[in-house]
Amino acid sequence: MREIGDLVESASRTMGHWAAMNTARPDDETTTASGDGWSEDMELAPVHPGDREPEGDDDRQGERLQKVLARAGVGSRRVCEDMIEAGRISVNGAVVQVQGMRVDPRADKIAVDGVRIELRDDRVTYALNKPPGVITAMSDDRNRACVGDMVGDLAPGLVHVGRLDQDTEGLLLLTNDGELAHRLAHPSYEVRKTYLAQVSGSVPRDMAKRLRSGIQLEDGPVKVDSFRVVDTHAGQSVVEVVLHEGRKHIVRRLLAEVGLPVSRLTRTAVGPIELQRMRSGSIRKLSRQELGTLQELVGL
Ligand code: URA
Repeated sequence: MREIGDLVESASRTMGHWAAMNTARPDDETTTASGDGWSEDMELAPVHPGDREPEGDDDRQGERLQKVLARAGVGSRRVCEDMIEAGRISVNGAVVQVQGMRVDPRADKIAVDGVRIELRDDRVTYALNKPPGVITAMSDDRNRACVGDMVGDLAPGLVHVGRLDQDTEGLLLLTNDGELAHRLAHPSYEVRKTYLAQVSGSVPRDMAKRLRSGIQLEDGPVKVDSFRVVDTHAGQSVVEVVLHEGRKHIVRRLLAEVGLPVSRLTRTAVGPIELQRMRSGSIRKLSRQELGTLQELVGL
């Protein structure tokens, strides 16, 4: 049977649109969406003399859209103007084709080719591939290895989004955006978390149906969004479980309840953000597009 680590990537590939959107390797510092005029590298593009605005041009009513887009790395201001003209930019859901519109990057929702992007520079989110044995805490008074040690001083005010058990490995998001953290973790926002679990025992054919219709645990019922067997060999199986629950040990308890005790558990995705090929212990910063997509998902 293939190991969970080998299966993480192939499971990720089946998860659709995000994989198609992001062509960069997951452990790159930033990822880019496909399509022209769409790279954070373009921040370095030479500024056309005509792109410059007079000093003091910005006032309390906001900043020019093309300037905000250029600062976010969408392209030079000239490229951004072309994108506006081509109808590729929307502000708060409406396509803008006039030049010079003023926007507030802290409040307005701006999308490029329908993909929302985070325009603020002060909000950051990281993906960590948490190794087993590390506790989900920013510090620990008992000196146990914790995720706080792994992120160091990457950014002030980082909090972990939900928790993984000490023994569970895989994708853990860390952000300095408290509301985003709350919404991603809270079951009412229904953000799906995907896990690969190595279990002992054979998996009955009706298992997906049973898990989808709900299992009673001691602290209440739990339902999965989806369940499938990824691999089986010699009395061991790797199964994929998707659910939007945040209760403690929920996947381990759920699978144990249906006779499938878990020997290894890896979280492979949180909503559209996937672990893919991140090495254990590695960290990457989410791109502005990934952040925008997460915000959109939870209504921010
Ligand atoms: N479910 C578990 O059992 N453990 C985790 O760490 C996350 C979900």
